[in-house]
Amino acid sequence: MAKAEIGGQSMMQAIGDSCSAVSEPELEIRPLESGDLPEVMNIELQGYSHPWTEGIFQDCFKPGYRLWGVDEDGVLAGYAVVSYVLDEVHLLNLCVHPGFRGRGVGRLLLRHLVKEASREDMNQIILEVRLSNNIASKLYRSEGFEEIGRRRRYYPAASGWEDARVMALLLQP
Ligand SMILES: CC(C)(COP(=O)(O)OP(=O)(O)OC[C@H]1O[C@@H](n2cnc3c(N)ncnc32)[C@H](O)[C@@H]1OP(=O)(O)O)[C@@H](O)C(=O)NCCC(=O)NCCS
Repeated sequence: MAKAEIGGQSMMQAIGDSCSAVSEPELEIRPLESGDLPEVMNIELQGYSHPWTEGIFQDCFKPGYRLWGVDEDGVLAGYAVVSYVLDEVHLLNLCVHPGFRGRGVGRLLLRHLVKEASREDMNQIILEVRLSNNIASKLYRSEGFEEIGRRRRYYPAASGWEDARVMALLLQP
């Protein structure tokens, strides 16, 4: 008996392909728009003990900033906000929805903003991260960021203040 074919593929190939298309989540990076702010704020409020306000995000929709979002199957999974000053990029915010963590979204955003900074001929990316934030620090180190200093009492904390680790990545010319 002849095998069923769809557009030159066997039925089993076609089923296999469509199954993998359904099970593999599709991640897409794109610039954030102001219309994303309700979803951004929902993630932000779950991500930080001292979250940004919507007004802070609104102030970042300016030429010296880049705002990136990752959609998983059309739902905003995370975002990154960076500022560009002279030859230096400052990573201001990187946050992934708790339900989407541990699946590569944060690393994807980080790699994307590094690639964009290189494409725009920037020399360095710097960031601050709470000393207690081991997950983020590990992610940054694994992408080549190195600690270059500390800022004392940089972050508000439940009991007073917390120091920041300052990390930097030199970009290749
Ligand atoms: C930090 C954050 C952005 C990471 O996003 P994510 O999408 O979960 O990260 P990824 O899935 O890309 O994982 C990247 C790396 O982070 C580290 N990591 C992620 N989740 C971890 C966990 N639960 N425990 C330990 N390390 C973890 C690992 O090094 C991981 O790499 P690996 O999977 O190869 O081991 C996310 O945890 C977050 O939004 N946290 C709250 C906001 C925040 O702290 N932002 C950083 C401010 S400086």
